[in-house]
Amino acid sequence: MTDALSALSLGDSEASNRIAVSPMCQYSCDPDGLPTEWHRVHLGSRAVGGAGIVMTEATAVSPAGRITPHDLGIWSDEHAAALEPITEFVREQGGVPGIQLAHAGHKASKKRPWDGNVPIGPDETDPDGASGWEVLSPSPEAYPPFDGDRPAMRKADAEDIQGVIDAYRAAAERSLEAGFEIAEVHAAHGYLLHEFLSPVTNDRDDEYGGSFENRTRLVREVVAAVREVWPDGKPVFVRISGTDWLDDRDSWDIEQSVRLADDLAELGVDLVDVSSGGLHPDQAPPAGPNFQVPLAERVREGADVAVGAVGGVTEPEQADALVRNGRADLVLVGREFLRDPYFGLRAAGDLERDPEAVAEEWPVQYRRAVQR
Ligand SMILES: Cc1cc2nc3c(=O)[nH]c(=O)nc-3n(C[C@H](O)[C@H](O)[C@H](O)COP(=O)(O)O)c2cc1C
Repeated sequence: MTDALSALSLGDSEASNRIAVSPMCQYSCDPDGLPTEWHRVHLGSRAVGGAGIVMTEATAVSPAGRITPHDLGIWSDEHAAALEPITEFVREQGGVPGIQLAHAGHKASKKRPWDGNVPIGPDETDPDGASGWEVLSPSPEAYPPFDGDRPAMRKADAEDIQGVIDAYRAAAERSLEAGFEIAEVHAAHGYLLHEFLSPVTNDRDDEYGGSFENRTRLVREVVAAVREVWPDGKPVFVRISGTDWLDDRDSWDIEQSVRLADDLAELGVDLVDVSSGGLHPDQAPPAGPNFQVPLAERVREGADVAVGAVGGVTEPEQADALVRNGRADLVLVGREFLRDPYFGLRAAGDLERDPEAVAEEWPVQYRRAVQR
């Protein structure tokens, strides 16, 4: 029976288990978007901690696509070169390195959460002196600001849209050079691609707005551009918000997500990572253990593609049950991996019956901690 400790085949590579570090912004770069020692230690310790897949935080495909001036980026060869030692280390520790490629759309140019999370205008700076910028939106008028202040926004024109597609393609090429095995396109949480998907934030009347086909066009074009340069033997994931949690209005919902997942599979996407929400302050999401899993389950039942579940997974047995019961092919763990970087090893210890096999999972340097 397939369980959380079963290997996951990822084309030419294989994850040693089905527990992944969910992408989590660290806001710990200088405004150049280059990784720092923080990233090396943060991602490296989770690889040491037994995660089958170590996914980076949302990594901006262009400077304007950063949420804050301190986000990680991959818009130049220098970024790729600086990320390479991290992917090497993750691989040495038995993890599969993945990168989440992101454009924050009209949720860009903000202060870091610990500085207040509010928009930084193009003429303003954050407490570190980093400048803000004009942000890109499918339809600026439709944007309901989360935090009171409105950022300076421009409606994406045809050139902007082509620029986004090209930036994703170039970012994927650089990710490959940097040694990543998985490219995940971030199309969730109210960022640019999700803003195009949802009728709440997209009221365009061109070929990128209106019908389901039009609203999903940009995501499909971005995915096709990434797939174009990402080798067949390496997987492409897409993170979606399974729903906007706005049932009282015309919004993005699970039925559209299932339909999109099928379209993505046809474009060569290997796994759809099902999160939710993040688009609008009126959202009413549930909370607690497995709070988004029913959405992942619906996508897995309705579409012909592997599915990742995320949200409220804190226990190895819980992750195991999700895989054993066929609710997900992969379990992404966020906050529990912040509380316990060794969650993967903890899972091996709790779920594996053979103590010798558990010891094998640990880095040789630490093995005496678990050998009898
Ligand atoms: C500090 C932090 C940063 C996050 N940054 C990202 C991100 O960069 N990209 C993303 O898709 N989700 C991001 N998320 C969401 C997580 O990946 C995850 O989906 C969410 O926390 C729910 O999973 P959990 O209950 O296991 O934490 C972030 C969450 C946290 C706590």
